[in-house]
Amino acid sequence: MFLSKLFLFCLLYVKYTNSLENGLARRPPMGWLSWAQFGCATDCKKSPNKCISDKLIRRTTDAMVSQGYLKAGYEYVIVDDCWFAKNRDKNGRLQPDPERFPHGMKDLANYIHDKQMKFGIYEDIGTHTCAGYPGLQGHFQEDAKTFAEWEIDYIKVDGCYMNPDQAMINKYVEFGDYLNKTGRSITYSCSWPAYMPVEQADYSLLPKTCNLWRNAWDIGDSWSSISGILKWFARRQDIIAQFAGPGHWNDPDMLIIGNNKLTPGQSKAQMSLWAILAAPLLMSADLDLVSSSDRDILQNRDVIAINQDELGIQGLLVKKASKHTDVWTRKLTPIVDNFHSYAIAFLNKENNGADKVTVTLSDVGLTSTKKYFVCEVFKNQKKPHLININAKFTVKVNSEDVRLYKAIPATPKMLNCKKHLTCSKFQKDDIERVC
Ligand code: GLA
Repeated sequence: MFLSKLFLFCLLYVKYTNSLENGLARRPPMGWLSWAQFGCATDCKKSPNKCISDKLIRRTTDAMVSQGYLKAGYEYVIVDDCWFAKNRDKNGRLQPDPERFPHGMKDLANYIHDKQMKFGIYEDIGTHTCAGYPGLQGHFQEDAKTFAEWEIDYIKVDGCYMNPDQAMINKYVEFGDYLNKTGRSITYSCSWPAYMPVEQADYSLLPKTCNLWRNAWDIGDSWSSISGILKWFARRQDIIAQFAGPGHWNDPDMLIIGNNKLTPGQSKAQMSLWAILAAPLLMSADLDLVSSSDRDILQNRDVIAINQDELGIQGLLVKKASKHTDVWTRKLTPIVDNFHSYAIAFLNKENNGADKVTVTLSDVGLTSTKKYFVCEVFKNQKKPHLININAKFTVKVNSEDVRLYKAIPATPKMLNCKKHLTCSKFQKDDIERVC
């Protein structure tokens, strides 16, 4: 009796502690997600270009290729809520809305895969999705099988229509197991932390269960929404940042750059802070309407390199340099003689004019070596500046804008590399992995 109980315990232990063995999302996922821009628009007669449909997904896939997003690293095309028919089919299987997705999901997946991209879909752990379509509840095994048959690569599982309690968390673990059992590699985005207080959400279970997870409320199309989410992250960083890493990420929600609701400064700020946070980069814009300056921000390879840094260490707010300006840093590669490189962002959150702040590198936590080479991202700086950690430097940050830097330790090894050091090389190959 005791032995059989022990065996059962071991089985459950293996099941609930090692359920995520999918090897996916070693870097924060990059792609496009329909929700923030297209929501639940289902009237294709009235808005043929704006409704959630096969056409929208194919048009976006094409734009990802032709406009350089795929090359920049964005690879997932994800349809959020409202792709469904109102009811399951007569066999209980999920089905897409037949008018908006006339070729079915497998055909759409083939189209996306043919363009070397990955297809993501949305569901909900409860009885219904947030917009009222059929949820996963009671159908975990067959739905996981359906998604694998459709060759889905990513699934966002929302948390509407279920009590936000421990039973909900257990359901996410259970559905993750069914996904794994399909044998298909499916990136698993969970939402339970967005439905309960941090203390209740059992963060330690997240990296074992999910590749990414929404932490807080939905992003809206405004700067105040972005700065509210950043405030949420900063307040809870001591609890949540430790759970991010290769394979498992905190998700502050979509990038809203490109929707003409942000100034250029605000767009750069969202991109920079999402890079510091090691956040998934999921754009939500009509890619055919994105301005070329916003496209440059979304495709800036230096800021993307910071986001995708292989160490996967989430950055932190380290200093309030003034009433308006916060300093955030993130540890990065290259590591030179055991010293990390860093990204440093000065963020002026307010709309009170430009703010001048003076700090030293040591004030913002760069204390491991005496000097750093520093290059500014979003600038055409040619040569890095060599900055002593105790030297004061002053940064002017415009209203609701950012100044983003990368700093590499100026150890004797790096000083020897000096002749190779240009800012354009700085991020690209990190000086041939330190000369
Ligand atoms: C919730 C999620 C959003 C979106 C909608 C869809 O609000 O947080 O990101 O998926 O549901 O209905």
